[in-house]
Amino acid sequence: MATAVGIPNDIVTFLKAQHRQAKVMLTAVLSSQGDEREQAFAALRDLLTAHESAEKRIVHPTARLALTGGEAIVREIAIEELAASHALIELSALNVGSEAFESKFRTLQANVLVHAAAEETQEFDALRSTIDPKQLASMLREVQASESMVAPPPAPGKQRSNGASAQIEARQPRTH
Ligand SMILES: [Fe+2]
Ligand SMILES: [Fe+2]
Repeated sequence: MATAVGIPNDIVTFLKAQHRQAKVMLTAVLSSQGDEREQAFAALRDLLTAHESAEKRIVHPTARLALTGGEAIVREIAIEELAASHALIELSALNVGSEAFESKFRTLQANVLVHAAAEETQEFDALRSTIDPKQLASMLREVQASESMVAPPPAPGKQRSNGASAQIEARQPRTH
């Protein structure tokens, strides 16, 4: 089916585009310093938070039911996402110029790239070959609605959005 170039028409195309965006933003954090790195990290954190939240609410439940071995696939994906969420929280508490941040961030980068590749192969492509295209389009509309509630569309170098950051921070007990 012909679609306009660059405009996602289903959930798989949309989430894969976000994976590519995350890859660029991961690199942007490492190639920047100071305030610029702070902002690049905040934008990345917002993107990943919104992305994983939408997957958790709309994509994984469908995959769990629709795919052969879906339960095991989603269980593994969820473990990786929880680890990334914890890493983002830990990174948020570090000075972006510190060696600890650099080291932990490089680990996050590697893990996110592995996670995204596995997700695309085991979940997204499997969904596309299993599910009615109309349902995939409907899931895109659900995800877009979900992400608009979590955070505005992030972009490299933009300030963090309070919504997504608050969502991460809400999972952490306050110490003050
Ligand atoms: Fe994910
Ligand atoms: Fe993903």
